[in-house]
Amino acid sequence: MDHEEAGRFWNDNADAWTKLARAGYDIYRDYLNTPAFLGMLPAVDGLLGLDIGCGEGHNTRLLARRGARMTAIDIAEVFIAQARQVEEREPLNIDYRVASAVDLPFANAAFDFATGFMSLMDVPETNRVLTEAWRVLKPGGFLQFSITHPCFDTPHRRNLRDANGKTYAIEVGDYFRNLDGEVTEWLFKAAPPHVKQGLRKFKTPRFTRTFSQWLNLLIDTGFLLERIEEPRPDDETVRACPGMQDAQVVAYFLHIRVRKPK
Ligand SMILES: C[S@@+](CC[C@H](N)C(=O)[O-])C[C@H]1O[C@@H](n2cnc3c(N)ncnc32)[C@H](O)[C@@H]1O
Repeated sequence: MDHEEAGRFWNDNADAWTKLARAGYDIYRDYLNTPAFLGMLPAVDGLLGLDIGCGEGHNTRLLARRGARMTAIDIAEVFIAQARQVEEREPLNIDYRVASAVDLPFANAAFDFATGFMSLMDVPETNRVLTEAWRVLKPGGFLQFSITHPCFDTPHRRNLRDANGKTYAIEVGDYFRNLDGEVTEWLFKAAPPHVKQGLRKFKTPRFTRTFSQWLNLLIDTGFLLERIEEPRPDDETVRACPGMQDAQVVAYFLHIRVRKPK
């Protein structure tokens, strides 16, 4: 499967995704990934930033509120339309464009930094995404992105639970098999049944890479590794969102920052 075909799946997901995320059901984003990502982010005040795979724009808006001058792209036109609607209501000077991460419509060295919140792993042509991010970054600029953790979001994965339903281990397998567009169907598990009723399930194509493949692609592109985090929810967060307890057992997510040398 190529990026255009994968993008059509995302466009079809976009309305239900936006509705559920804006209603607060993307709990891993809101209570774990985004706070950890922003905690790791260098100061962006006054910098020119590009958000790759921005979805409905939630995280792009947070970057703009930190003072970054943001451009954001997504392959799904429905997501970009949703993001633009918010921009019209509450302007933050964000320039949203429909574009693919593998073919960025920007000049070389146009941005001080680039971000990808849980998006780079959804593009099959991983090396082209990284080469494009490199190309549009100024020398000395950084790319920070989050992905599902390659070691624990494996083609085979199963939660092992105790008698109380608490996850005590995650069974992983098939780690070395690079999935190439296998489609999984799901909705945010935090959304109650009456909210999910009538919504078409997301269909997301998966493209898995091993940990070493990710790191070697970054190294081969020419990036310097700067920071890595494996965020996990604290006990207070799990008390508020018990469904996130499993993310305390293994790292569900991987956050990486790399820099284009000067
Ligand atoms: C898991 S969602 C994350 C959205 C958003 N960054 C967030 O954190 O809420 C993945 C996003 O990547 C986008 N995407 C997938 N393939 C893409 C591509 N080739 N170019 C740009 N965006 C892409 C999808 O449309 C979707 O918006």
